[in-house]
Amino acid sequence: MIGRLNHVAIAVRDITAASELYRNTLGAEVSAPEPLEEHGVTVVFITLPNTKIELLEPLGAESPIARFLEKNPDGGMHHICYEVDDINAARDQLVNSGARVLGTGEPKTGAHGKPVLFLHPKDFNGTLIELEQA
Ligand code: CO
Repeated sequence: MIGRLNHVAIAVRDITAASELYRNTLGAEVSAPEPLEEHGVTVVFITLPNTKIELLEPLGAESPIARFLEKNPDGGMHHICYEVDDINAARDQLVNSGARVLGTGEPKTGAHGKPVLFLHPKDFNGTLIELEQA
């Protein structure tokens, strides 16, 4: 069912400092920060030859990243995103296998303008998984 690794997301306190670290110290190609109000994050994309890294900084009081950073004050890996061909078919198959989809269960538009869903980390080895329609 799952295909390519689309991205790994890292939660950070200071997206400007984290961008500079990736650009200057690690020598990566780093985008400008983009606020995504609907998701409560500001995001930066780092393009690697085989995948992407997303840096996430909390945006607004309700940000889902804020609590993660309370528990992980230095920042940390927040989720990984796999591509699927058909997100609704993937969701139905996963729900039938007993996996829990976060939120309403309906796909939302993600950072790349494509439908995404999140799967409960307790069902997947303690890792928050995002599925994105390829
Ligand atoms: Co993501």
